[in-house]
Amino acid sequence: MHKITVVGAGHVGATAAQRLAERELAEEIVLIDVVEGIPQGKGLDMWETAPVEGFDSRVIGTNDYGPAAGSGIFIVTAGIARKPGMTRDDLLKTNAGIVKSVSEEIKQCAPDAIVIVVSNPLDVMAWVAKEVTGFPRERVIGMAGVLDTARYRSFLAEAIDVSVEDIQAMVLGGHGDTMVPLVSYTTVSGIPITQLIDRKKLDEIIERTRKGGAEIVAHLKTGSAYYAPSAAAVQMAESIVKNKRRILPCAAWLEGEFGLEGIYLGVPCKLGASGLEAIIEVELNSKEQIALNKSAEHVRETMSAVSL
Ligand code: NAI
Ligand code: 2OP
Repeated sequence: MHKITVVGAGHVGATAAQRLAERELAEEIVLIDVVEGIPQGKGLDMWETAPVEGFDSRVIGTNDYGPAAGSGIFIVTAGIARKPGMTRDDLLKTNAGIVKSVSEEIKQCAPDAIVIVVSNPLDVMAWVAKEVTGFPRERVIGMAGVLDTARYRSFLAEAIDVSVEDIQAMVLGGHGDTMVPLVSYTTVSGIPITQLIDRKKLDEIIERTRKGGAEIVAHLKTGSAYYAPSAAAVQMAESIVKNKRRILPCAAWLEGEFGLEGIYLGVPCKLGASGLEAIIEVELNSKEQIALNKSAEHVRETMSAVSL
């Protein structure tokens, strides 16, 4: 890919840009922020790691969208992050305004781009980006499920003492306390997880996953997680750039899938060169479907507080 732009040169954005460059996922990585000097300084610093890390992706930091023109992918991380005591929904009004202005710029400078939204509250910000750009759902996808699933997988690997690579799982639903880890699709190299861990411990891990973002905020005190979130966004970008057609849990605009419509929610998605290539409607048991419906209700309530 010729160009990928990351909007927001804060913790998630800058780390994502560095990961994109180190993997050479585009010839140019553009880093944009409203604060003068920050994207320029971080971009230059990253580019100066190129001879050491051995990558040729050129990193450019800027305050305007000129250098982003024609980007194939935008990763939107612009906005404010959580502080202790704040929920993701507390970020709503401020971030809706920010994501709106960023989306207007994207629409102008790269009308064919695929947008990966990261800013919180995620499911609602993905909707804002879709509404404002007017892009089809194939080209506006939210990142949350890959992160929530990575947390779930890492806690499980630790608890049963196996490689993280052998844990297959999916966390669906909205990016919040109502997220839905799918126990029926959690396996260790094909072995159902319930054969390897007792139910009480599994329930503790599910609860820890739901609160995974807050756990990091409580440690950091001045902001929220960024290593795992940036890795998750870059994994989605990689599947698109390399047309890998990976099945990843992502926030997608639903048009009747899982009995839900007119909402962004985490569901299994196939990501390839054209963006969201399919939503995989896996079978859910009644408990999982009820939990997904409840999560959707929460996202809808948050959406209703935003006027575009
Ligand atoms: P941060 O505060 O470190 O960085 C945000 C950056 O956005 C700042 O540098 C700020 O100057 C910039 N910004 C603000 N308005 C802008 C605009 N109009 N255009 C361009 N840049 C602008 O925050 P961090 O930790 O990087 O988090 C970014 C966002 O991502 C937050 O909303 C956070 O809640 C969200 N997040 C979402 C996750 C998910 O799973 N979806 C995971 C982690 C973070
Ligand atoms: C997280 O889950 C804050 O959404 C962010 O870490």
